[in-house]
Amino acid sequence: MIRSVVCGYGAALPKRVVTNQELEKSVDTTDEWIVQRTGIRQRYIAGDDETSASLGAEAARAALANAGLTAADIDVIIVATSTPDNTFPATAVNIQNRLGMTHGYAFDMQAVCSGFVYAVTTADSFIRSGQAKRILVIGTETFSRILDWNDRTTCVLFGDGAGAIIMQAEEGTGEVADRGVLSAKLRSDGSHKEKLYVDGGPSTTGTVGHLRMEGKEVFKHAVGMITDVIIDAFEATGTTADDLDWLVPHQANRRIIEGSAKKLGIPMDKVVMTVDQHGNTSAASIPLALAAALDDGRIKKGDLIMLEAMGGGFTWGAVLLRW
Ligand code: UT7
Repeated sequence: MIRSVVCGYGAALPKRVVTNQELEKSVDTTDEWIVQRTGIRQRYIAGDDETSASLGAEAARAALANAGLTAADIDVIIVATSTPDNTFPATAVNIQNRLGMTHGYAFDMQAVCSGFVYAVTTADSFIRSGQAKRILVIGTETFSRILDWNDRTTCVLFGDGAGAIIMQAEEGTGEVADRGVLSAKLRSDGSHKEKLYVDGGPSTTGTVGHLRMEGKEVFKHAVGMITDVIIDAFEATGTTADDLDWLVPHQANRRIIEGSAKKLGIPMDKVVMTVDQHGNTSAASIPLALAAALDDGRIKKGDLIMLEAMGGGFTWGAVLLRW
């Protein structure tokens, strides 16, 4: 059977780092509160010359170089973002153009913080159905542009960045020993909209709007939703948390990640944590975390990895794959 195997990865971060101490000067907050409640110590904030498309293209170039490929080898580009450069055309098409690519096709997916998990799942379906042989999957965000910098309950939590992977069709046996995506589970429930949303949009206010979140409410649902969908992804393959090498979660809050890992019986030394360095970068957080753990040699070929995310919508999902 055909499997979607990751053959390259890349990441891109804005030039400017903003520490909690720097935020203390303009926001009524403290480093102590932010670290204690979230684990975040710093985040990267895009400059005027940095956008979701420019960061996404930089991550894509790094992934192509890592895989030893060029844009000519890519059939499809899928971009997960909630902060597109323009309402349309898609940021994916913008990135396609930046890569000098005029063949194939490119499109965006919008599932907020779960966007990368949704995009990987979609790419896997395209590859397994024979629609495409090689897909560039990018998560890229400039959430700093939709934050209300007067709202301390949200503006300290998010950051900007991009990450990318390349997934390609390879022959597998159908066993869990195969490399590539082994199972993927997606969920959404729009009844939770008011807990995490942007208060503007082309079809309502005609403005971009600002992020609004009832943090405590999101927190209350997060661990249960995340662990449910991870258990589903394990069960689909007959594996358990004991088989896992790495949990690579969406990086929203250290306490949510620790709570989920504890409930699943996954020790923290098998969890990749970058929330301290990046803050919550929404759809970019998982590929940025993957890149960090690949760069320092933690994740190795053949490792069993669980990706998971939960965010606005609500949307949530998990992907089990062998690297
Ligand atoms: O990626 C998408 C999914 N999003 C998430 O997963 C976020 C989920 N939620 C969270 O991570 C947490 O709920 C937060 C980090 C947002 C908040 O942590 P919390 O422990 O739930 O705090 P809280 O909202 O209950 O606020 C506690 C106190 C409040 O003061 P009072 O009412 O107790 O006097 C807030 O006003 O902390 C205050 N506070 C702050 N203080 C200093 C809120 N924001 C800040 C701040 N600095 N930035």
